[in-house]
Amino acid sequence: MSELLKYPGESDTDNLPPEGKKAAHSRRAFLFKLSLLLNGAVGTVLAVPLVRYLLGPAMKKDSATGSWISIGEVIEFSIGQTRLVDFQSPVASLSDGETAKIPCWVRRASAQQFQVFAVNCAHLGCPVRWFVQSKLFMCPCHGGVYYEDGSRASGPPERGLFEYRSKVTNGSLMIHAGDMPTLATHASCAGKSLIQIEPASNAMGSKSC
Ligand code: FES
Repeated sequence: MSELLKYPGESDTDNLPPEGKKAAHSRRAFLFKLSLLLNGAVGTVLAVPLVRYLLGPAMKKDSATGSWISIGEVIEFSIGQTRLVDFQSPVASLSDGETAKIPCWVRRASAQQFQVFAVNCAHLGCPVRWFVQSKLFMCPCHGGVYYEDGSRASGPPERGLFEYRSKVTNGSLMIHAGDMPTLATHASCAGKSLIQIEPASNAMGSKSC
């Protein structure tokens, strides 16, 4: 009788009768195939998030980037108030968890006039805080300061806070989200000047952004 192939971990069956050897071999063959199947299934489950992580941005880019989304009802914002609001990133996936929540500062300047600022400082991106007493945004990292309309007051930032495009639709405050507002995307520059930082010995100039 020809030698039967041994699977990994298979013990010596030389002492078994021919029927016993065949039964033991087929049982082990079945278990070996089952373990391959289970390993394949586990590998696939583990690979899905990795593949989604790698391909996700490219797959989501066209459909969600640049969406108009609501960040609340107009009546939720008092005139003259500036407050922090979180919104769900339109390009987020389930695996993003809490990081899908994007904070922004919302200022209601008048009944119909809103400004929505990215929280990131225009210098190196630290989150700025709003101080209602002084009506200033301040950056804890290098002392950048901004006025309530987001324009630069002092410190290393060369321009004002980046601002989301916003509009009011059917009583909701909408912002154009999906991309961070930067000069490379659609940051609002309206009415804000870009300060050219120069050495202390030179006069400080400015130019329009
Ligand atoms: Fe805000 Fe530098 S990151 S001042």
